Amino acid sequence: MEMEAKKKVLSCIQPSGMLTLGNYLGALKNWLNMQEEFDCTFAVADLHAITVRQEPAKLRQQIYSTYALMLALGLDPEKSTLFIQSHVAAHSQLAWLLSCYTQFGEMSRMTQFKDKSAKHADNVNVGLFSYPVLMAADILLYKPDFVPVGADQKQHLEIARDIAERFNGIYGDVFTIPDPYIPKIGARVMSLQDPTKKMSKSDENLNSWVAILDNPDDIMRKFKRAVTDSEARVCIGEEKHGINNLIGIYSAVTGKTAEQITAEFEGKGYGDFKLAVGEAVVEELRPIRERYEAIIKDKAALEELYRNGAQKAEYVARKTLSKAMKKVGFVL
Ligand code: TRP
Repeated sequence: MEMEAKKKVLSCIQPSGMLTLGNYLGALKNWLNMQEEFDCTFAVADLHAITVRQEPAKLRQQIYSTYALMLALGLDPEKSTLFIQSHVAAHSQLAWLLSCYTQFGEMSRMTQFKDKSAKHADNVNVGLFSYPVLMAADILLYKPDFVPVGADQKQHLEIARDIAERFNGIYGDVFTIPDPYIPKIGARVMSLQDPTKKMSKSDENLNSWVAILDNPDDIMRKFKRAVTDSEARVCIGEEKHGINNLIGIYSAVTGKTAEQITAEFEGKGYGDFKLAVGEAVVEELRPIRERYEAIIKDKAALEELYRNGAQKAEYVARKTLSKAMKKVGFVL
């Protein structure tokens, strides 16, 4: 029997629009792989989503959809804690506390803030600025050992560690200092049309990205049209961004190494390779889409799951919040 307690993992995903193959291979598939080994807490970060303007009905739909997708992926509410961030008030409460232990200068240096405030110049709100503090609260409430994050969130995780260390330095051992989790198989999925750019759902060229819930015909069309190069050899190469990306995707889905893939397609053209990648992706995503369609129809069952998830999360989060509040000197 396993006697040692499992290490804890926490991560969140924003419900902002359709999730892509990039979100799947870069993050969600790893969540699934971690589920057995770790004690996992995963949330839909809806509070973070409103740092940019959202249309209410669409936001609501996306929160449901993101939660349903977590279930459809195979995340199991019996094994992991799956909840919606705004359902656990402790996130906002701890965020306020932590914001008083975070310097204006530190937040001003965050590269995502600089990028996003340039992109949404008409709405540089205070929430956008203090976004990493809320993220620090998300993390620190659950005392995780590891936080899986992509490259774009690494700076935010570092600031969460800094804030935690600072707080612990003043008040003693309140928060666990989490480490970033570098997944064994992690793919940074690039645009199928401009493979020097990250795959993004906000790309206007709809052939450049694949949604997790895309139907097989659309997926095949997008892969058939994927940009490659003129060398006609399936192998990793410095200037072969398109092929590198397709090899990365095929490898993440099938578990084959780049060398095995090169051997498999020796003497074959890019056409064959693109079909094979498309088919592998279709088969990988098919069961997820089918389960999703069943889950999203049953709103009552969905509600029961996210309410239970919030209760489980709340229990853990409350304890950490109370401890932090007490240390600061609040009357409890
Ligand atoms: N900011 C993250 C993103 O946009 C989402 C997120 C919110 C998160 N809270 C978190 C990720 C806590 C990890 C841990 O991708």
